[in-house]
Amino acid sequence: MTGKRAFIFLLTATTVFAVPGAPGQTRDLVTIFFTGNELGSMQPCGCSGGQLGGLDRRYAVLNAVGPQNRLIIDTGSLVPESTEQNLIKFSIIVQAFAQLGYDVVNLTEQDILIARQAGLLDGLSSLFNCITAGSPDDVKLPAKFTKKFTLNGIVFEAAVVTAETEDQISRLPDLFSSTAAGSPSAVKILILNRADAKTVATVSEMHLVDLLIVPSQSEDEPILVSDTNVSPLVISSGRLGKYVGKIQVIFNGAGRKPRLKFTSVPVTEDIPQHQPLVELYKDYQRLVKDANIIERQPRFILPGNLEYIGSKYCKLCHDYEYEKWMTSKQVFIPGLAKQASPDNRHANAFAALEKVGSEYDPECVVCHVVGMQYQTGYISPAKTPELKDVGCENCHGPGSEHLRSLGAIETSGPMSTCSDCHTAEQSGEYAANEKQYFEKIVHWREPVSIVRVTEPNRSSK
Ligand code: HEC
Ligand code: HEC
Ligand code: HEC
Ligand code: HEC
Repeated sequence: MTGKRAFIFLLTATTVFAVPGAPGQTRDLVTIFFTGNELGSMQPCGCSGGQLGGLDRRYAVLNAVGPQNRLIIDTGSLVPESTEQNLIKFSIIVQAFAQLGYDVVNLTEQDILIARQAGLLDGLSSLFNCITAGSPDDVKLPAKFTKKFTLNGIVFEAAVVTAETEDQISRLPDLFSSTAAGSPSAVKILILNRADAKTVATVSEMHLVDLLIVPSQSEDEPILVSDTNVSPLVISSGRLGKYVGKIQVIFNGAGRKPRLKFTSVPVTEDIPQHQPLVELYKDYQRLVKDANIIERQPRFILPGNLEYIGSKYCKLCHDYEYEKWMTSKQVFIPGLAKQASPDNRHANAFAALEKVGSEYDPECVVCHVVGMQYQTGYISPAKTPELKDVGCENCHGPGSEHLRSLGAIETSGPMSTCSDCHTAEQSGEYAANEKQYFEKIVHWREPVSIVRVTEPNRSSK
């Protein structure tokens, strides 16, 4: 190699390493990750493709940056409300947060209530740091958390504070001024539990914080609420764990304001799962099964003494429709295909849950069996095996009176329409392909009789 070429090589190498903001190449970079409004969603249901989220996949997103150079925040609302199943979810989510390496979790008043009900309140601080603005008198949790980063020998600090009431907001200057958080080069982050415009404006006018995280209203994705180059940046937390909010902090040296760059990272299906968190979800499924929540669901009484009887009874008089439902084949060959074939998805709906281990989870079972919300409907695999799967009575209503009258009394009672189950979340393809979906389930002889089950008002739900 000649001296000249070596010189050019050196120059190029220097240029590459000097690129500001390229991850892994400049040590002046800290990444803040944030999530919030988990609302109990730990995994996408897997009903249709392309779903985002999953605590097990979040691991790879967060761990793309080492613990020394990152700050992981959750803004709270771990589960939506206080039910037995949500208490189980809460216990699983906090364990997951610990495994994911969360530095700090902002507990809302509701989170504290649920943690207490689950008997977990005292143990939480051993999993991650907790801050709160809505702390009851007997709970001593701070409103502030700080983490130090050493970059090029200089110590920087990130301070995370939470506030809710006007009084708490008026005391922000005190909270931020103490310790190194008062330095201009510190990153000052405020989590608000409410997103009202007035509070956001008040905080912005204080010129105190660099980053303001507010709860999402309805968007699943964290979004920049303020302009790009203002201070503070106002960003919504996102919901349901589908995205991770990411802020790259570029420290410009001691005494100088850091630069913040926001992106949101979708948690997509191609991100590898972290095995311990896959196992943790299985623990959740086991806990839900062992608590036998499925058998203890509240169940409505059906109108007019109606009862569910199961698809097999319908076969007695509707052999043609039954066989079609069992096979979903367009061409009907009598006597063939007594077993549910894999291309008949309705008649296999329960097996789909068994495959993923969610067959005791009422949140899943409800759309994969007959009449779970009603008395005489589905209870459990042991008690009501005949009501597994999406059966005749999901769409036509409970059949007891129809059977007793040998068909003279039409089926009635609660009937689901396609879109009750084929929702945007569970069946992303459905809305744009209604006709194709409908054609796939044809099981009636054309033309159908005058009573058409798809007519409006047929549903007495
Ligand atoms: C609101 C009703 C509803 C709920 C609740 C529901 N599902 Fe589904 N599920 C569906 C529908 C509809 C499909 C078919 C989607 C399609 O093909 O368009 C489906 C399909 C599936 C499949 C089959 C996917 C495939 O490609 O073979 C699995 C597995 C599944 N669901 C699991 C679950 C789990 C696990 C839960 C709970 C976490 C759940 N479902 C909750 C309605 C529901
Ligand atoms: C996913 C919903 C769904 C399931 C499951 C289902 N059906 Fe249907 N069924 C329909 C729809 C929709 C029609 C078409 C009626 C129309 O055109 O409005 C229909 C039509 C019929 C008809 C003809 C009705 C008429 O007016 O002549 C019969 C009989 C029938 N189904 C029986 C059954 C039986 C028996 C089963 C179970 C083996 C079953 N269905 C399962 C939705 C369903
Ligand atoms: C004892 C015989 C018998 C059984 C069992 C039976 N049906 Fe029927 N069903 C009839 C007769 C008879 C008719 C009216 C004949 C026709 O119009 O095709 C009928 C009509 C229907 C129709 C069209 C009119 C309406 O009521 O909406 C549907 C849908 C239907 N049955 C669904 C079911 C379902 C679902 C089951 C099982 C829960 C079932 N049937 C069980 C005899 C029976
Ligand atoms: C009670 C809930 C429920 C109702 C009501 C319902 N479905 Fe489904 N549907 C499901 C579930 C669950 C699956 C997935 C089962 C599996 O994959 O094991 C499914 C799967 C399907 C599939 C197979 C999807 C594919 O890509 O092959 C079609 C088609 C379908 N449904 C059409 C309909 C139509 C049309 C209606 C209304 C007439 C309807 N469904 C009503 C729950 C429901």
